[in-house]
Amino acid sequence: MTKEEYKNLGFVVRETNANYISYYKNGSWDEGLMRDEDTITISAFSTALHYGQEAFEGLKAYRRKDGRIQLFRPTENAKRLQRSCERLLMPKVPIDKFIDACEQVVKANQDLVPPYGTGATLYLRPYIIGVGKNLGVRPAPEYIFGVICSPVGSYFKGGLAPNKFVITQYDRAAPHGTGQAKAGGNYAASLLPHELAKKQGYADCIYLDPLTHTKIDEVGAANFFGITKDNRFITPKSSSILPSITKYSLMYIAEKYLGMEVEEGDVYLDQLDIFKEAGACGTAAVISPIGRIDCDDMQHVFYSETEVGPVTKKLYEILTGIQFGDIEGPEGWVHII
Ligand SMILES: Cc1ncc(COP(=O)(O)O)c(C=O)c1O
Repeated sequence: MTKEEYKNLGFVVRETNANYISYYKNGSWDEGLMRDEDTITISAFSTALHYGQEAFEGLKAYRRKDGRIQLFRPTENAKRLQRSCERLLMPKVPIDKFIDACEQVVKANQDLVPPYGTGATLYLRPYIIGVGKNLGVRPAPEYIFGVICSPVGSYFKGGLAPNKFVITQYDRAAPHGTGQAKAGGNYAASLLPHELAKKQGYADCIYLDPLTHTKIDEVGAANFFGITKDNRFITPKSSSILPSITKYSLMYIAEKYLGMEVEEGDVYLDQLDIFKEAGACGTAAVISPIGRIDCDDMQHVFYSETEVGPVTKKLYEILTGIQFGDIEGPEGWVHII
């Protein structure tokens, strides 16, 4: 593959060498194994199929300049999966088991980790599903934990080029629901608003807080951040959004590397004027500058509809610099395979 082809990999499934699977039966996890096929055979009575008892994670393996491969903050993904499991009454996957499974998958697919300098990575998708025979609405008798992967390029078209987004009146999660868990059901709820936004020519939709519909909650499958005109980094504090590992990393970078004031707070739709720049952030999205937000007859342009703002660019450079091993990150952020 040429460098250009790696850049245009997109975010789709590609053939890989092997994936990991482990079974939970009679109260404990087995050792797990690597296998070639990406199919699973489960009972049609499985709770994952009927009641959405399922959660997943997303993290990337990055090729460094020296050829080695590293993960970015995998322990945070392991902890978040444990919190999702708690919320959905599934057995927790031990942190060591999670990291070991990711390592095994990266090693078995190391020839598929894209070269340094392409921006492309190997995306890892750990998942846990409730399986076994069950009819009533109750937790499953058995579980499967697995890790699959695929080489990926950028999630939004155009990499660091700004995108336009539209406010949706749909909610992806309820105020005290499962928004903080990475549960499949939240994503099922997001398919329709996402599709409607795409059909209207937007990169994705923006969700408002489900209680009052006055504040920005999330940007599709990414968190929102804004840079105020007085140079503060602000990101929504909400019980219905996924606590993004990228977002918390950017908060740290903004404060410690760029000396900015950082705040988790309210981002009111009628006060977007306080921001000079805005972006969407996440493992898949990395940082995608928000050029414009549309809502009914309101149109709000941030820095520019065609160019990334200077603070967003700096945050992107430091974040990706750490992720690809060019910049030394804080202790524990990088996990070399
Ligand atoms: C709904 C949602 N919000 C935010 C994020 C970003 O989270 P992270 O930075 O941990 O990837 C994701 C992606 O995982 C997501 O699916």
